[in-house]
Amino acid sequence: MTATQSGPLKGSVRVPGDKSISHRALILGSLAVGETVIDGLLEGDDVLSTAAVLRALGATIERDKAGGWHVHGFGVGGFGEPAQVLDHGNSGTGVRLMMGAAATTPITATFTGDTSLCRRPMRRVIEPLEMFGAEIHAREGGRLPLTLKGARMAIPVTFRLPVASAQVKSAVLLAGLNAPGRTTVLEAQATRDHTERMLQHFGATVSREAADGGLTAIHVEGQPELRPQNVRVPADPSSAAFPLVAALLVPGSNIRLDGVMLNPTRAGLIDVLRRMGANIAVENRRNESGEDIADLVVQTSALKGVEVEPEIAPSMIDEYPILAVAAAFAQGRTMMRGLAELRVKESDRLAAVAEGLKKCGAKFEIGEDWLAVDGAGPLAGGATVATNMDHRIAMSFLIAGLASKAPIKVDDTRFVATSFPTFVPLMKQLGAQFRIDNR
Ligand code: S3P
Repeated sequence: MTATQSGPLKGSVRVPGDKSISHRALILGSLAVGETVIDGLLEGDDVLSTAAVLRALGATIERDKAGGWHVHGFGVGGFGEPAQVLDHGNSGTGVRLMMGAAATTPITATFTGDTSLCRRPMRRVIEPLEMFGAEIHAREGGRLPLTLKGARMAIPVTFRLPVASAQVKSAVLLAGLNAPGRTTVLEAQATRDHTERMLQHFGATVSREAADGGLTAIHVEGQPELRPQNVRVPADPSSAAFPLVAALLVPGSNIRLDGVMLNPTRAGLIDVLRRMGANIAVENRRNESGEDIADLVVQTSALKGVEVEPEIAPSMIDEYPILAVAAAFAQGRTMMRGLAELRVKESDRLAAVAEGLKKCGAKFEIGEDWLAVDGAGPLAGGATVATNMDHRIAMSFLIAGLASKAPIKVDDTRFVATSFPTFVPLMKQLGAQFRIDNR
């Protein structure tokens, strides 16, 4: 697909439901006895593979004609042994959270995924899950496919996160659900807290307190009876980031993004863009299902380069590819540090962004865990960018193409459907020009 210079973007849209919350709503609904109803679930491939895995473990999950999702769960510890291999496709969140949820239930299950997921590190979850008593046999280097034998007599665990990862934190908390007593995760940097919030929403006891060495301790009390809930999934800020940056870059734009989640552990990009000079108004702040949401009104803005501190990386970890694009169109240097985790996402995102920027004519410097982009107004474009099975690389460079001097082509858009299946029609509705290339 190729993106070409577009007229002003105008209009009001709501991006699909948050991916992190969608996975968690399906998982916790499956661990509660009775019917959980989810509105606004992200119907992207990643979330649909989590639903398929939960069905294979015994849950009943159905979509009604109005788009509501009905989950009939089997209670904490109620998973049945799956007959087939559990395939999580492209989704690191799906597989890591489900490994956690299965680790303290006495079943044996084999997990796999696509070639991107089979390259990603799983030792970060294998190690804490083995502490609960699970047995896990992975491929060389702690990679998928792997077979997990859940603990028959699980023991609760205290675990310090080796990396700032909400997926690892969540895997441990979900495993702790079926261990008697208190499981504790210690984290040095705040990561997204949707698992904690939603566990509380479903009736589990979760608490947090300051611990030694500047750490935060997050506790979950094991073996609760989870009660089914209604969940309304807010619009995903990581998806909203694409039309938002597009409106900042395409001259004369003015758009409204409805109901975007502004949980502080996810809202880093908005703060950084505002420091760069972005005109983003936050309107109608409200609370839905325990999450802060608001409408965002975005107008084209002249951006300038800024320093992005490593401390805020977890609150915008998925937004660096699109921030790097915004930085290339800004005036001056944007320095982004603390990016080591970008190397182990759906692709090596730091390398993929750098490669794409280079092809499009941007100036930058790159290190092992940092990127400095020297912005100089509209990109030259006129290039084909490799997506490497990574949805956010594909969307970031399609957005860049809307404001570049010459069109930008991305070689593969299939993976956009993992997180933002309506990306193309929604952007076209705002005025974006995309064309499908002849093979
Ligand atoms: C997610 C956590 C993040 C993020 C991913 C979703 C989650 O990964 O990149 O897209 O839902 O917990 P890490 O926690 O591994 O950084």
